[in-house]
Amino acid sequence: MKVAIMPSTPALNSLSRIAIAGASGRVGTALVAGLATEAVNVIALTRMPKSNRFPSHIAQALVDFDKSASLQEALEGVDRFFLAQGTSPRQVENEIALIDAAIAAGVKHIVKLSAASLPAKLHPFDWHARVEAYLVSRDIGYTILRPTTFFDTLVRAGKAVQENTWGGSAGQGIVNLIDTRDVADAAKAVLLEPESTYWQRAFHLTGPRAWSMDEVARELTRLLGKSVAYTQRTPTEERQRLLNSGVSEFVVDLLVGLDRTVRESSLQEETNTVQLLTGHAPRQLPEWLSENISLFGGATVS
Ligand SMILES: NC(=O)c1ccc[n+]([C@@H]2O[C@H](COP(=O)([O-])OP(=O)(O)OC[C@H]3O[C@@H](n4cnc5c(N)ncnc54)[C@H](OP(=O)(O)O)[C@@H]3O)[C@@H](O)[C@H]2O)c1
Repeated sequence: MKVAIMPSTPALNSLSRIAIAGASGRVGTALVAGLATEAVNVIALTRMPKSNRFPSHIAQALVDFDKSASLQEALEGVDRFFLAQGTSPRQVENEIALIDAAIAAGVKHIVKLSAASLPAKLHPFDWHARVEAYLVSRDIGYTILRPTTFFDTLVRAGKAVQENTWGGSAGQGIVNLIDTRDVADAAKAVLLEPESTYWQRAFHLTGPRAWSMDEVARELTRLLGKSVAYTQRTPTEERQRLLNSGVSEFVVDLLVGLDRTVRESSLQEETNTVQLLTGHAPRQLPEWLSENISLFGGATVS
């Protein structure tokens, strides 16, 4: 009888090295902070190493993903690798170069920060799909995290709420939003997992429920004690408005595309994966709004 021999997961110990790409980003910052208290060696990859950017015992490596020659050296001796880059037109080529460098350096497991899969060919969703397709075709352990839209996308609404000009082309659609700290917690759980239970899998990470922008406006009205409304615009009106305000065409495309995902309710899915991976329920949007109410012109309650 033939016995299948499964590759064993290299045990994590105090000598294990975990490299974090996008370490200074929204997810990366929370992930580095979460890993900083664990008995592993963390290396933060950044284009701008600075003394006060991360907890003092966290190693930093100067890496620019746009310069592929430097990538393998930065990943030598690394056991597990968190792969993330802020949205960029070079995202596909850069992330593929990082995957190649990780494999060449002997990394055993890549945790890729991706995005939801959509039928529409919208950036950056289609870019993530291409990187994922490449990753799953390689000979390496991987886990793909597909979070829905971040709570933080509402940061952009702050000034507009204060000026009573908040709006967009999201229509009456709904979107499930997630706290980046939950994404980081899920990544941490997967990176530290001693078995390979989560390898060769993709997880859709979501918050507790979906929201329409009118519902978010009602929540802000409650928290601010003044009337907040979301003004409905057509995609063409919204595009022109953003362009007139000096936003680059690249970012305008991303923002109008994001509104489309809400209008079409493409990201309304609710999953239990945050609870499954982290052991805690996903954070609630009203709490995040309350914590960040000063962005919207409110006074923070301490
Ligand atoms: N926003 C959303 O709602 C949402 C939802 C789902 C998925 N996502 C995905 O999440 C990812 C963004 O994560 P995030 O919000 O945590 O990132 P972020 O806050 O936008 O931070 C970007 C990070 O990427 C690093 N970076 C960018 N270009 C680089 C380069 N050429 N070389 C080295 N580092 C580079 C930056 O590092 P330094 O500046 O320190 O070098 C920074 O840490 C994107 O792939 C996005 O598609 C976003």
